Amino acid sequence: MSQDAAKKAAAEAALKYVEPGEILGVGTGSTVNFFIDALAQMRHDIPGAASSSEASSARLKAAGIPVLDLNNAGSLSIYVDGADEANHQLHLIKGGGGALTREKIVAAASRKFICIADESKLVQVLGKFPLPVEVIPMARSYVARELVKLGGMPSWREKVVTDNGNVILDVAGLSITDPVKLETEIGLIAGVVTVGLFARRPADVLLLGSPAGVRELKAI
Ligand code: 5RP
Repeated sequence: MSQDAAKKAAAEAALKYVEPGEILGVGTGSTVNFFIDALAQMRHDIPGAASSSEASSARLKAAGIPVLDLNNAGSLSIYVDGADEANHQLHLIKGGGGALTREKIVAAASRKFICIADESKLVQVLGKFPLPVEVIPMARSYVARELVKLGGMPSWREKVVTDNGNVILDVAGLSITDPVKLETEIGLIAGVVTVGLFARRPADVLLLGSPAGVRELKAI
């Protein structure tokens, strides 16, 4: 089974969590694209979706699913999104696609977070995937120096501007044994908009696609 087939299987398994009549939140990335394609078959059952990126908004609209302003949506039933890494506590690294800020907002506004991924994303310790940090442009060098003090090796994702007009630093070399603490520490650095650690608000369910089928993990 290809990695794409595993992503698609996980994405389709998330459909059972969609609550008819309820607005849901939708993340960003190739796994979420499979989810949006599958969600099209339920478009008459839901009022619409709050989206975490311009890219997902365009795909939702193309699938006939209304994109709703989060400010008018109230609390969302579920949030469905992918991840770059997940541990067994369902703490995540996200932001490989650069949409981490809106993803964290929509996740925070949702009652249940369903993470969809292929099984290669499950790790014992987070940090092999460089941790994305969205930063106000003028703070880029300052934040990079602070991240070095925390033991990381930041590199600027050049030529990338987020949907919010900011830049991204990808921080390599971290072995993240206390994700909640590191999320808090990095989040407090002046100029940081969002750190791509989702540990203070982890996923509630992780659906992992593999050749053996879709495995469902809940936080331990
Ligand atoms: C985008 C994300 C994605 O969820 C993450 O990068 C995983 O992407 P994919 O589903 O393409 O593997 O956080 O900002």
